[in-house]
Amino acid sequence: MTAKQVTAKAPATSANLGPGFDVFGIALEQPNDKVTLSATAIKQGIKIQISGMGAKTISLTPEKNTAGLVAKTMIKDFKIKSGLQIHVEKGVFPGKGLGSSAASAAAVAFGINAMFDLGLNVKQLIEYAAKGEVASAGSEHADNVSAAVCGNFVLIRSYNPLEIINLECPKDMELAVAMPKMITPPNKTEKARAVIPKLVPLEKHVHNLGKAAAMAAGFAMGDVEIIGRSMVDDVIEPARVALIPGYSKVKENALNAGALGVTISGAGPTMIAIVNRKTGNTVKVAAAMCEGFRSAGYDANAFATKPGKGACIVEMEK
Ligand code: HSE
Repeated sequence: MTAKQVTAKAPATSANLGPGFDVFGIALEQPNDKVTLSATAIKQGIKIQISGMGAKTISLTPEKNTAGLVAKTMIKDFKIKSGLQIHVEKGVFPGKGLGSSAASAAAVAFGINAMFDLGLNVKQLIEYAAKGEVASAGSEHADNVSAAVCGNFVLIRSYNPLEIINLECPKDMELAVAMPKMITPPNKTEKARAVIPKLVPLEKHVHNLGKAAAMAAGFAMGDVEIIGRSMVDDVIEPARVALIPGYSKVKENALNAGALGVTISGAGPTMIAIVNRKTGNTVKVAAAMCEGFRSAGYDANAFATKPGKGACIVEMEK
C-alpha cells in the first residue's frame, strides 16, 4: 500500500450524443463526484458512506452499489489485504442520464489504483469502472465510464477487446444541460434499454451511420458546427421519446435559442444541447430547455458547462 487515504474525482458524462448509442461519450466540466478511500483493517471489509446529490436513493450494500462493486472486484483480483472505507460525495445527481454511477465508478477505480500502486493503464481502469455499471444499468456498457476516465470525447471502437479512441473537443464547444425534476425508477436505464428496437431498417441505419461518422470527423477536425448538426438519432431516440416529458418542446426551444443540436443525455431524462460559444449563448439555451420541461409540467435544473477532463487524484495521504 502506498497511501492510507486517497481522494479521487471524476466528472459527469453524457453518453450517445445522438447517433452514437453505447459508442460515444463526453465528459462535462461540471458536476463531479468525489470519492475518498481510507484503508481499514481487513476484517472491516468494504463500508460505504454517501453524501450529496440524491445520496438517500443509493444503496450502501457493496454488491448493489457502483463504487462498492468496483472496489470489491479490484480487491479480489489484486488480492488486496485491506478493508476499505469509501466516502462518495455525489455531485452528479443519480438516475438523470449524466453518468452518475460512472463518475463514482471511475473515481473509485482511480483511487484504488493509486492507493495500492497497481499501475493500471487507462483501458484496465475503464474495464474495472465498467463493472460498476452493472449495479445501476444491469449491463457493462462503457460509454459513460470511458468518458469519465479519459475526459473530453471518447468513442468505443470495440467492446471485445475494448478499444477506445479519445479526442479533444473544440475550444468553442459548450453544452447546455436540462435535468427535469422527476423521480426515475432505480432500474431506469434497464427500462430505457428495453424499449429500443431489436431490428433497424436500413435507411435508419444509413442515417445514423452518416451522422455518427460526421460527428467523429467533427471532433477530429475540431469543428463544433459539424458536431452539433450531427447530433441527431433516428434509431434509439424515437423509441425513448415517450419516456421524456416535454421532449419535443425542449428540443424546439433549444434549437430556437441557438443550439446546434440537442438530444437525450444517455438514457435520459436529462437533455443536452451543443452550442458554439462564438455564435450562441449557452445559458440562454439551457434556460429555454428548462422552459420546455416546465411546459410539460416538470420543473428542471438547467446549467451551462463545457467538455471536461477525466478522473484524477485530488489528494493522497501516505
Ligand atoms: N448508452 C447507454 C444508454 C447509456 O443509452 O442506454 C446509459 O447510461
